[in-house]
Amino acid sequence: MKTHGAVLRSAPADQPYTQSRPLEIEELELAPPQGGEVLVRIAAAGLCHSDLSYLDGTLGKPFPLVLGHEASGVVEAVGPDVVELRDGDHVVFAFVPACGRCTACLTGHSGRCANGIAANNNGELLGGGTRFLLDGAPAYHHLGVSAFCEHVVCAQESLVKIPADVPLEIAAVFGCAALTGLGAVFNAAQVTPGSSVAIFGAGGVGLMALLGALAAGGTPTIVVDPLASKRELASELGATATFDPTAGNVHKQIAAYLGTPGVEFAIEAAGSAPAFEAAIASTAPGGTAVAIGLSRRGASVAVNYGALVLGEKTIRGSFMGSSVARRDIPRYVALWRAGRLPVERLITHSLALDGLNAGFDRLANGEAVRQICRF
Ligand SMILES: NC(=O)c1ccc[n+]([C@@H]2O[C@H](COP(=O)([O-])OP(=O)(O)OC[C@H]3O[C@@H](n4cnc5c(N)ncnc54)[C@H](O)[C@@H]3O)[C@@H](O)[C@H]2O)c1
Ligand SMILES: [Zn+2]
Ligand SMILES: [Zn+2]
Repeated sequence: MKTHGAVLRSAPADQPYTQSRPLEIEELELAPPQGGEVLVRIAAAGLCHSDLSYLDGTLGKPFPLVLGHEASGVVEAVGPDVVELRDGDHVVFAFVPACGRCTACLTGHSGRCANGIAANNNGELLGGGTRFLLDGAPAYHHLGVSAFCEHVVCAQESLVKIPADVPLEIAAVFGCAALTGLGAVFNAAQVTPGSSVAIFGAGGVGLMALLGALAAGGTPTIVVDPLASKRELASELGATATFDPTAGNVHKQIAAYLGTPGVEFAIEAAGSAPAFEAAIASTAPGGTAVAIGLSRRGASVAVNYGALVLGEKTIRGSFMGSSVARRDIPRYVALWRAGRLPVERLITHSLALDGLNAGFDRLANGEAVRQICRF
């Protein structure tokens, strides 16, 4: 069938993207679902900084890439051997398809699924190959999702069924920002009630981590971001205190506020090495620092060796919220339904496919939190 999607043919592109137009809406040929695959009509797709990182060259390849990895949709057809999904089901995409057979999957770490990650790195589906053709040649899938496209074919392992009454614009955010930010809190840091939490970076992912920290009973909750508008939103969402990292040494600001050496849990969601270094430095003895940001290949951070050892700090990374998507997304939807995760307050803009370049300009300029492309 024919479909239309936002294709990135090469990168990096110069800003403003409204002028360089790295994303063009192209007509693609979409093959029918093969065994274990599903045809989904995308309903809503979020603009994540990881997508922006393809435009600016921080992350990359393979091209041409049908971009986007945070989406919700409705199942339109299923291929052979699809047992748990049927036409009309509402779904959220998980951006690592979990094969269910590798060591990572079998030990409850399906976000690290070796087969899913290998397929993602190749721009292919879990079953191998691509289902998109652009001008008669293969076009690649973005993390098995390709959210900025009217219709997609994906592995059934990329999908999590959700109740049909969850608005699909909100549901999209569960696919990345919520899964990642909440999972960093619940699965990676394992925030406990009454413990202090600091979040570095108040974008879609960091503010979801804030909502998670609040739901987990963390207090005080501290948010660090150079942008006043982000700090204001964090305060409105319930952050106890906010700090500007450009106003001086942020770990000293936090220690002075707390009257202790630092927080029990520090979560970096900025995608910047200085932010992660500040998160580590702001972690109290016995505390845990979690990095979420996706950096340029080869980027490294400096760690105070003595403070790490003497303070018995833990430093860890978290990808896709260290989650099991099929376990965690339904739990997060239930928390949202109970009014304890106001995900919708993070949605600042709605746009159409032809507004993506402008949307990524806004994201790059810090003018938006989560923007939702509607179809
Ligand atoms: N690990 C994962 O699975 C995963 C998933 C999704 C996104 N990400 C990454 O998480 C990061 C955040 O994504 P997002 O969509 O929320 O981005 P975003 O652009 O919406 O938010 C990033 C925020 O960080 C702030 N910031 C920049 N420098 C800072 C600093 N030194 N200290 C504190 N804050 C700073 C910015 O002002 C901005 O508000 C990106 O690097 C993205 O690629 C990782
Ligand atoms: Zn993302
Ligand atoms: Zn696996």
